[in-house]
Amino acid sequence: MVETIQWTPDGVVMIDQTRLPREEVYVTCTDYEQVAHAIKAMIIRGAPAIGVAAAMGVALGVEKAGPDGLDASFDQICKTLAATRPTAVNLFWAIDRMRRVYEEMKGSPIGEIRARLTSEARRIYLEDIAINQAIGRHGAGLVPDGKTVLTHCNAGALATAGYGTALGVIRAAVSAGKKIDVFADETRPFLQGARLTAWELQQDGIPTTLITDNMAGHFLRSGRIGCVVVGADRIAANGDVANKIGTYSVAVLAKENDVPFYVAAPISTLDLTLATGDAIPIEQRSASEVTEVYGVRLAPEGIAVQNPAFDVTPNRYVTGIITERGVARAPYTESLKALAADRGSNVR
Ligand code: MRU
Repeated sequence: MVETIQWTPDGVVMIDQTRLPREEVYVTCTDYEQVAHAIKAMIIRGAPAIGVAAAMGVALGVEKAGPDGLDASFDQICKTLAATRPTAVNLFWAIDRMRRVYEEMKGSPIGEIRARLTSEARRIYLEDIAINQAIGRHGAGLVPDGKTVLTHCNAGALATAGYGTALGVIRAAVSAGKKIDVFADETRPFLQGARLTAWELQQDGIPTTLITDNMAGHFLRSGRIGCVVVGADRIAANGDVANKIGTYSVAVLAKENDVPFYVAAPISTLDLTLATGDAIPIEQRSASEVTEVYGVRLAPEGIAVQNPAFDVTPNRYVTGIITERGVARAPYTESLKALAADRGSNVR
C-alpha cells in the first residue's frame, strides 16, 4: 500500500497528491513552513493525514528552532499550521496534542523536548493506522456481500497514515472474503475520486468503477448499491457530518432509495464542542478549481463562481458512524458522547 507520509532523517516525506495518478512524486519538507504549504496546496489532504502532517510539522519546527524564545517559536509554528485549512478538525486535534506534550516538557533540555515531540508525532502516525484497521473491523460486517459500495472523495490510505477510513471498511470487507466492488464518485472539482480513490483501489486489485458525481442517483436507484461509505472532516455532537462537497446529495439520494449511508471516521474527527453541523467552518477554495481543469479554462471569463470544499449532511441521513471504538447510531448526541468518553481502550 502507498506510503502517504513518513518521518525520515531528511524531513517529512509525502507523496504529492496533486500529481497522482499521472506521476508518483515524493516531496520532502525540511521545515514547518513547507509542511504548512503542503497541507494548504493539498499535496497532502484528507482529515487524518492532515492531522499527522501537522503533528510532524510541529516536531520539525521545534527541531529547527533555537532554545531562545522557544515558547514564541512554538506558538508561531502552531499558528502557521492551524491556519492552513479550516474544516478538518483532526488538524487542530493534532496540534493540541502536540501542545500538551510541549507544556509537559517545559523546562527540560531542548534536546529532550525535540525527542519527545518527534516520538509523539510518530505515535500519532502509528496510532492512525491501527485506528483505521479497527474502523475496518467494525465496519466490514455492515457491508452487504455481493453488492457494490459507493464512496465519495478519497477516504483511503492517501487520506490517512495508511489503510483508510471508508476505504479501510472496504478493504476489511474484501479481506473478510466478501465479494464486493466499488463505485467511486469522481468528486468535482478537485477529483479526489477520479484521481486518488480510483488509483488507490486499482493498486489493491479491488474492482472499481469510476462514475461522475451526477450518476450517483441513477445507480442508487438501480438496486445495485448495497451501501454508501464515506469519510468525514468534522462530526458535530448531534451527528451532523461535514465531508467533501457532494456528500450531502449522495446521502439524500441514499435515503430516498433505502440504501444505508455510513460514515467512517476516527474519534479524533468528532467535535463535541459544536452542537450541530451549522457551526462547522466550511473552507472556500479558489474559483480556478471550478473554472479550469489542469489549467485549461472551461468557463467564460468573468463568470461568478462558488467553491465550498465541504458540505454538511444532517444526522437524519446517517445510518451509522463507524469509529475505532464501535458503531454509533441515532440518537447521536448520546451514542457519540458515550464513544468519546470510552477511554478504556483507544482501539478495539
Ligand atoms: O479536501 P480534502 O481532499 O482534504 O477532503 C477530504 C475529504 O473530504 C475526506 O472524505 C475526509 O477528509 C475523510 S479522509 C479519511
